[in-house]
Amino acid sequence: MLSLRSRPRRNRKSAAIRAFHSETTLSPRHFILPLFVHAGTGIQPIASMPGCYRLDLDALDAEVAGAWAEGIRAVVLFPAIAEELKNSTGDECYNPNGLVPVAIRRLKAKFPDLVMVTDVALDPYNSDGHDGIVSPDGRILNDETVAQLCKQALCHARAGADIVAPSDMMDGRIGEIRDTLDDAGFTGVSILAYTAKYASAFYGPFRDALDSAPKFGDKKTYQMDPANRREALRELDADVDEGADMVMVKPAGPYLDVIAELRAATDLPVAAYQVSGEYAMLKAAAEKGWLDEKKSVLESLMGIRRAGADIILTYYARQAARWLAE
Ligand code: PBG
Repeated sequence: MLSLRSRPRRNRKSAAIRAFHSETTLSPRHFILPLFVHAGTGIQPIASMPGCYRLDLDALDAEVAGAWAEGIRAVVLFPAIAEELKNSTGDECYNPNGLVPVAIRRLKAKFPDLVMVTDVALDPYNSDGHDGIVSPDGRILNDETVAQLCKQALCHARAGADIVAPSDMMDGRIGEIRDTLDDAGFTGVSILAYTAKYASAFYGPFRDALDSAPKFGDKKTYQMDPANRREALRELDADVDEGADMVMVKPAGPYLDVIAELRAATDLPVAAYQVSGEYAMLKAAAEKGWLDEKKSVLESLMGIRRAGADIILTYYARQAARWLAE
């Protein structure tokens, strides 16, 4: 017999005792469900994201109704824009009759209490596939892009968005969007800043979903270097100063330390985005029978919560909600 005073296993000896000191909760109220919409008819599967679809507006209604019934209260919309509507400045992004504003108005009419989050960035609308405007010599123009993002955010607010979420990583966009919204009377529209968004390989399936991969180069002059943690705090300071209501880390799973860092550095709600590549990895392993999908997905989401995220954007939101209700 070992002579041990401390035997941590005593606190794990039964389900009831384990439940005494279970530190982290996971429930559908923490989830934001990302949804892909397109202007055509029907639903289109996304090869690298099994179980996710580009939805037409009717299918979007049905998807949201299903999610609502499962306890999900927030969605974020990502549009697949027809090639002929794209241009180098992404002007379709603020068309009041564009796909996103039309979808927002429809959903708000049917689900008035649904929290509507929108993505603010040019990449779905930009013929170059970048989040910003590309200059003739191939640079991403910061300030010109911010002006477009302000028009886009205002367009979403006018359509009824509750939260606009700039995912572009241009400098100074949070403050400019805040001023634009306030000047137009939308002081109640929140900004969820993609504060620490990394230049990640895990966005690959998402770019397939929207056909939005950059036509040249990469996003490293605006998205962050995966090697960096301190830089996330600098971005946090800027976003907080500029009036962000919530901040985000993206991707989630490979960046749990960054989530914990932001959690410690701010009292604002912290969100984390379990991105398309994280989803695809879990799906692929589950399809092969290599992982227990339910257990590994709930564990991955719990890990993101434990690291400090209040909110999780996840393509697994509906499935997880169903599993949590079992
Ligand atoms: C672009 C945007 C991306 C994602 C959300 N908004 C891709 C990118 O930055 O290239 C990725 C989401 C995912 O992979 O699930 N503004």
